[in-house]
Amino acid sequence: MPKTTLAQYLIQERRRFSDATGDFNSLILNVATTCKRISRAIEQGALSGVQGDADGAINVQGEQQKKLDVVCNNIFLEVNQEGGNLAGMVSEELEAPYQIPVEYSRGKYLLAFDPLDGSTNVDVNVSVGSVFSVLRAPDNVADIVVESDFLQPGSKQVAAGYAIYGPSTMLVLTVGNGVNGFTLDPNLGEFVLTHPELRVPERTQEFAINASNSRFWEAPIKHYVTECLQGTDGTRGKNFNMRWVASMVAEAHRIVMRGGIFMYPRDGRDPSKAGRLRLLYEANPIAFIMEQAGGRASTGHQPILSVQPTSVHQRIALIFGSREEVERLESYHTGQLPSSLPDPLFQERSLFRESA
Ligand code: F6P
Repeated sequence: MPKTTLAQYLIQERRRFSDATGDFNSLILNVATTCKRISRAIEQGALSGVQGDADGAINVQGEQQKKLDVVCNNIFLEVNQEGGNLAGMVSEELEAPYQIPVEYSRGKYLLAFDPLDGSTNVDVNVSVGSVFSVLRAPDNVADIVVESDFLQPGSKQVAAGYAIYGPSTMLVLTVGNGVNGFTLDPNLGEFVLTHPELRVPERTQEFAINASNSRFWEAPIKHYVTECLQGTDGTRGKNFNMRWVASMVAEAHRIVMRGGIFMYPRDGRDPSKAGRLRLLYEANPIAFIMEQAGGRASTGHQPILSVQPTSVHQRIALIFGSREEVERLESYHTGQLPSSLPDPLFQERSLFRESA
C-alpha cells in the first residue's frame, strides 16, 4: 500500500534546498487543502444546491459563471490568503489581482489559478479540475500587487499543478523536479503518492480537439488532423483515436497517464481572440507539468513556457502532450507543410465540409 503523503513528499523535496524556510511547502499544502475542500463541495452534486448558473453573473472572460465557479473561487481565496505565504493572487474569476487583506501576513509568492476548469461539465457529472501556478513575487513588490507582477513567462514558475475531481480526486504536481501524482485517500483526508515520477509517453495514437471548430482552423491544424483521420490509409500509416471531454484538466490527465495530444489552437472564429485558453493559469501550469513529465507544450510557433505574458487574462493557442506529436505539429507551423495530401476531411462530401 502506498504511504508517502504529500506533506512527507514535500519535506523530502525540501532537503534539496538548505536555505528553504518552509514557506513554499506551507503554500503547496494550503493549495492541497483548497483542492480537498473543492472536492468535497463538488461530490455533493445536486444535493449541495449549488449547481447551475450563478444568477446573471458573467466572469471577466465574458462567460456565464456557474454557481460552483464562485464557490470554488471563494475557497481558493479564503484558504490561501490566510497562509502568510502570498503577496497576491490572480483568478480566472476575478478581473483584477486579489490583494491579501491587511489582517493577514504577506509572503514572497504569487498564486494564479482557475478554480474550476471545465465547469460547464459539473452539472452533468463529468470530471472537472482546478489548475494553479506558483510564481515568485518580484523583489520590489509593493504592498499592493499589480498586474505586471504576474507577467512572468511560464519558465519562471516554481510550482504548478492540477487537481482532477473524477471517480477519485487526484493532485498532480511539479515543484520543478519531475511530476508526481497523489490520490486523495478519503479515509485519511490526505493526498497519498500513488503515481511517482510520471512520464508522458513520447508516441501516441490519440488526439483531442473540438472538431466542431474545424472550418475555422488554420492550415497546419487542418493538415495534422486530416493525417490522423486518414489513419493507415494516409501518410501516418497508423490509426488514431479521438477524445474530447471539454475539461482541459481531464484531457491533460489522460495525456499524462497514457499519452496523446491536445489542441486548442487559435482559429478564425473571432480574430480578436488569440485562442480559447488562458496563458497564466491554464496554459502555463499545464505546460510546466508536460515539460517536467517529458512531454511538450507549444503555441505551434514557440514553447508555451517562453511566452512573455502581456495581460493576466491573456488567451493563447495551446497544443500539448506527447513530445513527438507536438514537435510534428510545430514543424507544420514553422516550416513548409508536407506536400498536399488528399483531404477527405474538408472535401465536398466530407465530415467537416469547409465553407467556400
Ligand atoms: O476553461 C476552458 C475549458 O472549459 C477547458 O477546460 C476546455 O478544454 C475548453 O474550455 C472546452 O472548450 P469548448 O467548449 O470550445 O470545447
